[in-house]
Amino acid sequence: MKRVFIGVAWPYANGPIHIGQVGGCYLPPDIFKRYHQLKGREVLMVSGSDQHGTPVAAAAEKEGITPAELADRYHRINTKAIRDLGIDFTLFTYTTHPTHKRISQDLFSNLYEKGHIYKDTMETFYCPDCGKFLPDRYVRGICPRCGAEDIKGDQCDECGLLLDPQELVEPKCTFCQGRPELRESEHFFLRLSAFQSALEEYIDSKIDWKNHVINFTRGWLDEGLKDRPISRDMEWGIPVPIDGYREKKIYVWFEAVIGYLSTAIQWSESTGKDWEVFWKNDETPHYYFLAKDNIPFHTIIWPAMLMGYDEELNLPHNVPANQFMRFEGKQFSTSRGLFVPLPHMLENFHADAIRYYVTAIMPELRDSNFSWEDFAEKNNTELVGNLGNFIHRVLSFAYSRFGEIPFPGELDERDMGALESMESKVREVGEAIEECRFKDGLRALLEISREGNRYFNERAPWAEYNEDRERCSTTLNVAIRMVKALSVAGMPYLPHTMDTLWGYLGMEGSVHQCSWEDALRPVPGGRKLHKPEPLYSNVELEHLFKEKGTMKELEKLDLRTARILKVEDHPNADRLQVMEVDLGDHRRTLVAGLKGHYSNDELTGKSVVVVANLEPAKLRGIESRGMILAGEEGDTVSLVLSGEAPGTQVQGTCGDASMISFKEFQEFVLQVVVAEGKKLVGDQDYSAVDDVLPTTPSVACVTDGRAKVLTVGEKPLHLDRAISPGSRIR
Ligand code: MF3
Ligand code: ZN
Repeated sequence: MKRVFIGVAWPYANGPIHIGQVGGCYLPPDIFKRYHQLKGREVLMVSGSDQHGTPVAAAAEKEGITPAELADRYHRINTKAIRDLGIDFTLFTYTTHPTHKRISQDLFSNLYEKGHIYKDTMETFYCPDCGKFLPDRYVRGICPRCGAEDIKGDQCDECGLLLDPQELVEPKCTFCQGRPELRESEHFFLRLSAFQSALEEYIDSKIDWKNHVINFTRGWLDEGLKDRPISRDMEWGIPVPIDGYREKKIYVWFEAVIGYLSTAIQWSESTGKDWEVFWKNDETPHYYFLAKDNIPFHTIIWPAMLMGYDEELNLPHNVPANQFMRFEGKQFSTSRGLFVPLPHMLENFHADAIRYYVTAIMPELRDSNFSWEDFAEKNNTELVGNLGNFIHRVLSFAYSRFGEIPFPGELDERDMGALESMESKVREVGEAIEECRFKDGLRALLEISREGNRYFNERAPWAEYNEDRERCSTTLNVAIRMVKALSVAGMPYLPHTMDTLWGYLGMEGSVHQCSWEDALRPVPGGRKLHKPEPLYSNVELEHLFKEKGTMKELEKLDLRTARILKVEDHPNADRLQVMEVDLGDHRRTLVAGLKGHYSNDELTGKSVVVVANLEPAKLRGIESRGMILAGEEGDTVSLVLSGEAPGTQVQGTCGDASMISFKEFQEFVLQVVVAEGKKLVGDQDYSAVDDVLPTTPSVACVTDGRAKVLTVGEKPLHLDRAISPGSRIR
């Protein structure tokens, strides 16, 4: 094998990449690529920002900016995060690139001419109030399979079901919450049914694919393939290249997968290199890395498109899709506010520490769980305590006593035993990566340093140094061979620190340019060593959360002080009040349901706290722009009060947070807490995120055992009326 092509799922440019996606599909291909390069193979690894479709258009609409602006912003943010993590794409481009547009339209026209795409009418949702068609994510509703509420019209994040918006139970327009109606419209369909037997034959030959990938794919095939609509009535996207239909756009999924091919061509156009040796060559295997929700697009739809377009093009050789990485048990999802954005993670931790942990919990065969405690634990005991410790004790000892790589004398059985174990583990690492078992490879890597630590302890070179200098020199030479093996075999996993290590060893060039075989070559005695520093450091979560006093979740909320200026009864609703509030730099109208608990007069003049970035909602004909925080216990309702000037923000909440839906707001748990010693007590005991420990009942945001007291101008918020700890604030 001389070459490898690697395609990586294109992240939607509608938000920052989160750590779940890194474990699902960005880190695995990078480990794979770096390994193959060490093996001397030329690798073309491509992906880019998925900028079209309703995921981007709907997010832009929410923020009141153009889809192009939003897509451009996240393309920049994600390109940087990917680079900072050391994900080494040959080309990471974007789908608004002209080459991509050209190839996408060409492929569409070509399939249309051959009859693989045909025109037909179908019913799609149309919102009479908004006056537009509502494809995919413009409609939300209840999942027909698992009953999850408020799911997107194209896919259920809860159970993974791919669906058409028409299948939603109780569909709603995402803009006005109104009920859309079905209207006929002409659309283009991919004749997927015609590829049934060709795809069955193709899949039958894939005996070494992961079980869950095969099962998902067979599930589709066994049900019988259905033709699929691949055009949409919307403005944002690549126009359908057929006269009379250019107003319609190519469906984002149909178009994005074409990126694998168009990017190879774009790369060829900009570098002058030949893309066909990668794409029209039986000897170049194609690997695709993605998470499980993307499987059918890569094992069925994309292969069918390729078969129909040009028989010479390579089909996927393997699609080692991963399962989901969840966050403390819940699925990572940008839209639910339960996510750790990669850019944030990179601000706080070394890229290789992130890579280490994400590999250690990679969801290769089943869903896995990210937790901060586990991150600290694995980092501190495995990366620092085992791998880092071995490397540093060997190098610092050799550097301080010899200043160079000591020469080996005669090797005894223990020396040979250590080297043999190292050699077999290096082989294991290579085999594991080759077979996309990245966790196994990492485990084998750590066994090298574990054995190294054992060897070093048994030899006790600090004693040998005084008793038998030559013996000590041999021990160090053997140990340094193990360290060098780690540097090469560990490079695909930990590319930054392993290159630093390469430098400490006094090796020439960079570990990125050496070959896999260098891992096992003896080390030359007499070569100058460079002064080593520890490669890894402990993660102190407490320190991190304390020092910053932040809770990432809160950054999605914009909570501000508002003074109530004027209150009136709602003209069309008995229980509602309409009020005008002062937010410092502007005034707003809010609708609240405090009647029976607070009279209009009681409310007037109070300094309350509002959720300022809640999507506006019409309540009985009056638009409410935000919500007042209040707590409730039995019949008692209490406002949350702020002592600060109108507009003053609750600390740790974000001023330019984008809008959130009511549903998203409900995911935050705000409740009454009070301090007892160093703990905060609410409906259970919580550890305090920072040093704010109020002795009278106050309000905190809680998540997985931690609570952060909300403060404004350094002071905790307070309650207007007495309600007990544990009462929910809404
Ligand atoms: N943007 C999609 C997602 O984030 C993935 C697209 S992968 C490609 O789920 F195949 F279309 F390229
Ligand atoms: Zn579902």
